[in-house]
Amino acid sequence: MKIFYSLLTSALSLFAISASAQHYVLSTPKTSIAVTANQDGNAYIQYYGAKIEQNDIQGLFNVRSNFTRPLYPQHGYNNNKEEAISAILPDGNTSLDLAVASAGRSSDPTGQLLVVTLKDKVYPVQVKVYFKAYNGTDIISTWSDITNLGKRDIKLNRYCSAFMPLQRGDNYLVHMHGAWAAENEIDNTPVPNGEIVLAEKDGMRTAWVNNPSIMMTLDGSPREESGQVFGGTLLWSGNYKIRCVASNRRLTVIAGINEDNSQYTLEGGETFTTPEFAMTFSNEGKGGVSRAFHTWARKYALQHGDRLRDILLNSWEGVYFDISQPKMEEMMANVHKLGGELFVMDDGWFGNKYPRNNGTSSLGDWTVDTRKLPGGIKSLTEAAKRHGVKFGIWIEPEMANIKSELYEKHPDWILQVKNRKPTVGRGGTQVLLDLCNPKVQDFVYSVTDNLMKENPDIAYIKWDCNFSLMDWGSTYLPADRQSELNVRYHMGLRKVLQRIRTKYPDLVIQCCASGGGRISYGFLPWFDEFWCSDNTDAFQRLFIQWGTSHFYPAIAMAAHVSASPNHQTKRETPFKFRFDVAMQGRLGIELDPAKMSNQEREFATRAIASYKEIRPVVQLGDLYRLISPFEHKCISALMYASPDKSKLVVYAYNLNYLYYQGVPTIKLTGADENKVYRIKDLTPWDASKPCPLNGKTVSGRVLHNSGLQLDASLNSPMASVVLELVAE
Ligand code: GLA
Repeated sequence: MKIFYSLLTSALSLFAISASAQHYVLSTPKTSIAVTANQDGNAYIQYYGAKIEQNDIQGLFNVRSNFTRPLYPQHGYNNNKEEAISAILPDGNTSLDLAVASAGRSSDPTGQLLVVTLKDKVYPVQVKVYFKAYNGTDIISTWSDITNLGKRDIKLNRYCSAFMPLQRGDNYLVHMHGAWAAENEIDNTPVPNGEIVLAEKDGMRTAWVNNPSIMMTLDGSPREESGQVFGGTLLWSGNYKIRCVASNRRLTVIAGINEDNSQYTLEGGETFTTPEFAMTFSNEGKGGVSRAFHTWARKYALQHGDRLRDILLNSWEGVYFDISQPKMEEMMANVHKLGGELFVMDDGWFGNKYPRNNGTSSLGDWTVDTRKLPGGIKSLTEAAKRHGVKFGIWIEPEMANIKSELYEKHPDWILQVKNRKPTVGRGGTQVLLDLCNPKVQDFVYSVTDNLMKENPDIAYIKWDCNFSLMDWGSTYLPADRQSELNVRYHMGLRKVLQRIRTKYPDLVIQCCASGGGRISYGFLPWFDEFWCSDNTDAFQRLFIQWGTSHFYPAIAMAAHVSASPNHQTKRETPFKFRFDVAMQGRLGIELDPAKMSNQEREFATRAIASYKEIRPVVQLGDLYRLISPFEHKCISALMYASPDKSKLVVYAYNLNYLYYQGVPTIKLTGADENKVYRIKDLTPWDASKPCPLNGKTVSGRVLHNSGLQLDASLNSPMASVVLELVAE
């Protein structure tokens, strides 16, 4: 008979399924997962949803017949359905037969854990399936450790992070879909019987087309503040796959690394840890799911999630590659005058033999171009101090150009396929370094390390990535391990990022990948924020930011005021509208302030001061999406609330102006019904003419039930308003 142990367990022994069943409920304040580990060897997920108590479990069995699903189903033996793991054993056997060996609870400093250990009945293979409830959040994550307990290699063909049964019914899948400059559009799809697959194959910018995150409704079409919604996101930076497999009676979400062309050899004694899949469940619609992820992100899944972000000027759209000492200094002085706190010098500052004047050369040669910056970076950090701002710098360290000294010295350091010419990207010469190779890992680490050692005053790094994994070949990996390339690349990248974080815990690092190609919790544990999109058109940004907010918090969302007409879309937008949109996220500017008119300068100074006032609410508060831009209802609106709801910030925009059309009323879900608020217009274009609601008081009950009427402020094309409501 197998020996069962349960460490700190408070599991009940109920007798509904098996005389020897042990049932574990793992809970957060609002959610629970229930798992059974039977003495006869089987393990099941019984429930995931709104919070239940342990003594509710018997009731689940009493009234329900079709939910119970295996915990981590295997391929090849006693299974004709979906599988979580598939392996080829040393003797060619393509099956596993996993049975429960033990189960128990434990904890780590950030959460409560439940671990079920499964072992093959004959072969030396062990799988530990973990569930972790993060303290102080409504997130439970799951992942597994797959261990080869024998001596000979095992080939892993599939190695999932999550195998989650959900209740089949009127399900809708909500996910973010996009492209370069059009990131994170929201897709709502009724779930048909069959299979929906969301996957990335880019290798590098793995959040662009389909973000590795889903919401799934259990009770009909998605609503913002009501209805039952499951949410899940994968913490993996490489190629991933999320499958939603549905039949009349069943729905399963299966998530993990994309196993296509990625067979992994598990050596004797080796453990493969799958990435975490973080989940939540909400009875408050999509809004509840978003707020749960935002809270968790700020506490655990993002760098410095409790630290307010600086307001910055980025040089890119102001000067592009035209970097020079006087222009950088002028930009520093100008952003300081407006109230900004940080200046970031973007691309174009490096390259010695090959100066970086456009996208065709120099990546890899991270030495300053002294023709443009005679005093080096040091003179810029010193100038920044003089001008009263912090200093940040752009790098793209995972890349090289064929036209670079780095490539001339180390042509074997790039990913390349034997007997084939390297595929090139941006500028016709960009290639990707081979992060499977420890020497290359050291080099990529040294890009940041050298900059920081030489210039300890650098406060911010923009880490970019502008190419895909096109050539699946590594000169470092042996011939029989080439299929591990994408997995090993990202293991290498994680190592590099972890080394940087260990040495430079205070550095602010932005995750950029041709815009929003890496907006993913697979990257964010090492980054403070991401660049939402290379599309800085405020009008389209409203859509991009709306979509992005479904999983990612405002504190991480870099949103910049750029020039009009916009450089990407050519659209003209009012200066105030551009500020009112950028103030939804981590506010920045990305234009040449020297080209601003006096009136724009005066407005920008006021708007930046106002942003400082609301910054804690925007960056640390709770988001309520009120009216979606995708619904084309003339206006769009959203709101942030401080945790105690004593401060609200409301944003509203006219996107679809028609004369005499009537502006919908905005109901403020999220206001405290028992509070009375005073309204302040934060960004009037003319300081002497705030909107008519300025100074008025209103109760939370009225805000909830009747709402704000903003006709007078939103009665022209691209009119916008940002209001602060403070409880009296
Ligand atoms: C990418 C980024 C931009 C900018 C350029 C510089 O496209 O997304 O913000 O940094 O690279 O080359």
